[in-house]
Amino acid sequence: MRIYRVKNYDAMSRQAANIISAQIILKPDSVLGLATGSTPIGAYRQLIDRYRMGDLDFSGIRSVNLDEYLGLSADDPRSYACFMRKNLFDAINIKPENTFIPDGCATDPTEECARYNQLIRALGGIDLQLLGIGNNGHIGFNEPGDCFAKETHPVRLTENTIAANARFFSSVEEVPKYAISTGIKNIMQAKRILLIASGTAKAEALFSTICGPITPAVPASILQLHENVTIVADEAALALV
Ligand code: GLP
Repeated sequence: MRIYRVKNYDAMSRQAANIISAQIILKPDSVLGLATGSTPIGAYRQLIDRYRMGDLDFSGIRSVNLDEYLGLSADDPRSYACFMRKNLFDAINIKPENTFIPDGCATDPTEECARYNQLIRALGGIDLQLLGIGNNGHIGFNEPGDCFAKETHPVRLTENTIAANARFFSSVEEVPKYAISTGIKNIMQAKRILLIASGTAKAEALFSTICGPITPAVPASILQLHENVTIVADEAALALV
């Protein structure tokens, strides 16, 4: 693991954008695995600025997102599909047909998961997977459990995750209880992984991820076994490391 300890959220966002930009410049048809949540928003803003300056071209980029809430359509403002359009896709020249997110309204979620796995394979796998981390150590929506989840699968969100994500909804009751998430296997098959984290709320999860035993109780701890992981985190998130 390569760890960059940076001062604050802005520095984390700039450094993450540097790494993603280098990937895009070196391989203009890269498959980027993208993440949602508050953490990547600053990095996405940086990428948008660089695109506007003429320094980045997304016309050949393909993207696959980690996850989506079950029961929310792509038009729902609380869906991750909408989040991605608002925070990145609408402001850059990525082709909409090259952006992929699990369908939260699929009538058969299991079938949708199989389709998504097949899609990732058809794209040739993920070149760079961007990850945030949940307070409980989840990546994507791979929640702590008894075994490492494999490929894309429907998940029941933990109370911890529902409470943490309630800020994006009018009330905690509105947060969907289920989601579709790419699995640990999909994430581990990415050629390169970039995990970003900011703030003290992530300190324990990050400590366990980097220094703790590899256990499904901390899903991100499996990243210790990946040969090309970069962590960019601020001093608050790395306070225990
Ligand atoms: C959600 C997402 C994760 C994300 C996590 C942390 O649960 N499914 O991909 O990493 O939230 O979010 P935040 O960056 O807002 O702390």
